[in-house]
Amino acid sequence: MTREIIKIEGLHKTYALDGVQVHALRGIDLVLEQGEYLAIMGPSGSGKSTLMNIIGCLDIADAGRYWLNGQDVTQLSGGQLAQIRNRELGFVFQNFNLLPRTTALENVETPLIYAGINKRERRSRSEEMLKLVGLGERLYHLPNQLSGGQQQRVAIARALVTQPSLLLADEPTGNMDSATSAELLTLLDKLNTEQGLTIALITHEADVAARAQRMVILRDGRLEASS
Ligand SMILES: Nc1ncnc2c1ncn2[C@@H]1O[C@H](COP(=O)(O)OP(=O)(O)OP(=O)(O)O)[C@@H](O)[C@H]1O
Ligand SMILES: [Mg+2]
Repeated sequence: MTREIIKIEGLHKTYALDGVQVHALRGIDLVLEQGEYLAIMGPSGSGKSTLMNIIGCLDIADAGRYWLNGQDVTQLSGGQLAQIRNRELGFVFQNFNLLPRTTALENVETPLIYAGINKRERRSRSEEMLKLVGLGERLYHLPNQLSGGQQQRVAIARALVTQPSLLLADEPTGNMDSATSAELLTLLDKLNTEQGLTIALITHEADVAARAQRMVILRDGRLEASS
């Protein structure tokens, strides 16, 4: 039986800036099942990051419903949303967002500190994740001693060490040359097929989107096509 990780119905989001209303999302319906790998494409300003922020419980919609793992997220308080973010979601961004003077291992351990996991277990789980992303030989390197692709792998290890039900990636290959980007995409393929990781990835690039199992296109706040 398949399980719905994300279920979205009739989602709307409007921003008001200096008295001008921007209708960023105009009625989004979307279902993402466990183990799926979805790419969200669309031109600049089409609402991709807005949708990702709502899926990631970093922002809330004005109208519509959103269930994450069967839980109605639209009804939750700020504190409850923060808890869901820590428990259910892993984030990867274009600029990695690693702590600069902190080793790869310590970067990966950070979310486990917040989760209240003891030091010994933090260490062993973080080492295991870094090995899984191919950085077993780089545990004590600082971010500036790693390549861009390696830094993004640390960010992925950090996103996954809490065993989230969904990995959200906003332009994860945006700052990479094509060879580094290809390596990272191979890692995401592996995590999806071998570990059953559910992935939602935003990208401008058609060749990146082509690696996903399914693609949707956002245009002017609406999902235009899916395959
Ligand atoms: N905080 C905000 N306040 C006002 N308007 C906003 C805000 N955030 C986004 N918008 C507007 O909402 C629309 C959608 O923005 P969004 O960032 O979701 O686009 P995007 O598809 O991620 O674009 P890009 O590919 O350039 O990252 C745009 O018109 C943008 O100007
Ligand atoms: Mg964006």
